[in-house]
Amino acid sequence: MREVRLVLVGLGNLGQRFCELLPQKAALLADRYALRLVVAGAADSRGAAYAPDDGLDPALIALIKRRKGTVASYPRLGRPGWRAHDLVGRADAQVLLEASPVNLSAGAEPGITCIRTALRRGMHVVTPNKGPIVTAFDELHELAQMSGVRLRFDGTVAGGLPALSVGTRDLRGAMIERIEAVPNLSSGLVADGLASGETWDEAMAAARAAGTLEGDGAWDLDGWDAAAKLVIIANAVLEYPASMGDVSRRGLRSVDGAELRSAADAGCAYRLLATAVRQADGTYTLAVSPVALPQSHLLGRMGPYGMGVVYHTDIYGAIALTIEERDPTPSAATMLRDVLGIFAPS
Ligand SMILES: NC(=O)c1ccc[n+]([C@@H]2O[C@H](COP(=O)([O-])OP(=O)(O)OC[C@H]3O[C@@H](n4cnc5c(N)ncnc54)[C@H](OP(=O)(O)O)[C@@H]3O)[C@@H](O)[C@H]2O)c1
Repeated sequence: MREVRLVLVGLGNLGQRFCELLPQKAALLADRYALRLVVAGAADSRGAAYAPDDGLDPALIALIKRRKGTVASYPRLGRPGWRAHDLVGRADAQVLLEASPVNLSAGAEPGITCIRTALRRGMHVVTPNKGPIVTAFDELHELAQMSGVRLRFDGTVAGGLPALSVGTRDLRGAMIERIEAVPNLSSGLVADGLASGETWDEAMAAARAAGTLEGDGAWDLDGWDAAAKLVIIANAVLEYPASMGDVSRRGLRSVDGAELRSAADAGCAYRLLATAVRQADGTYTLAVSPVALPQSHLLGRMGPYGMGVVYHTDIYGAIALTIEERDPTPSAATMLRDVLGIFAPS
């Protein structure tokens, strides 16, 4: 049995659910992969807990967090004075799982510092956090390569959908002519609410109640989130060095309720569509804009909780992947998928 020691940074929707998945999956991981995953340390915004020997109990971490507590209050092993990067810098562990907020406007902290620290220490890194990947794609990959470790981030694009795994692994040998993606869930929920006659306030309140829409909604509704995901797809799948400034962006709020309702009457659903189109000179044009998708479109039959991607290729045809994600468990599970990709590759 191989033991793999993990450090978790960020114990919100995803970190908590990952802690719940570990005991559920322990027997399967042992039987199928001869793997035992041990939580050596965990951190939230108020402190950390660290177990140098046997590990922390993930079910207890999840319980503490469900009760809105801090992991720094973990019995005996809580370290209230430690910040996340203190834990990452000191822990005896092989993998950092980084699931703190994106924070692009604050330099992608604390994720980026934790990830740099882990990679420099020779730890593998798994993260669903777009911030550091969008901000420092090349730098972090170079650091990983220098340290001989892996950097995996399948959860950064379209929740639990294996859009990056398929794009990087299964399209080898192909030229990708075009990508179409609906990578943001909240904007689809709001669009469907508006199409059914809700006001903007009602549709946004419903998406907020579903736990998908954050803050004032600008990140999701104005296309920033979809643009960040497109940048990651471009870099990782197309090997095209794009940044946020390369994406032309128009948000859902540029469409009025009447347009959304008449599209719905015609059997179409508005979604923020992220596209990458290959040009004759080999560059890609990247855009995010609201599009009324007909049912005949490969992404046109998704419900309000759907996300998806279509890869249009020269030799494999058009490959479409979709997911229905009603709660963040599939997104949390991408961290397990990435860990298994490192320690139990097929
Ligand atoms: N939710 C989804 O469906 C989803 C899907 C795919 C990707 N993601 C990405 O995954 C990441 C986590 O998402 P989430 O929904 O789990 O976020 P969340 O619910 O807001 O949780 C964020 C966690 O990070 C912690 N945190 C905040 N600042 C910190 C700091 N300075 N040091 C250490 N920990 C800090 C918070 O601590 P406290 O508990 O003390 O507040 C909380 O535990 C984000 O980058 C998000 O974009 C989310």
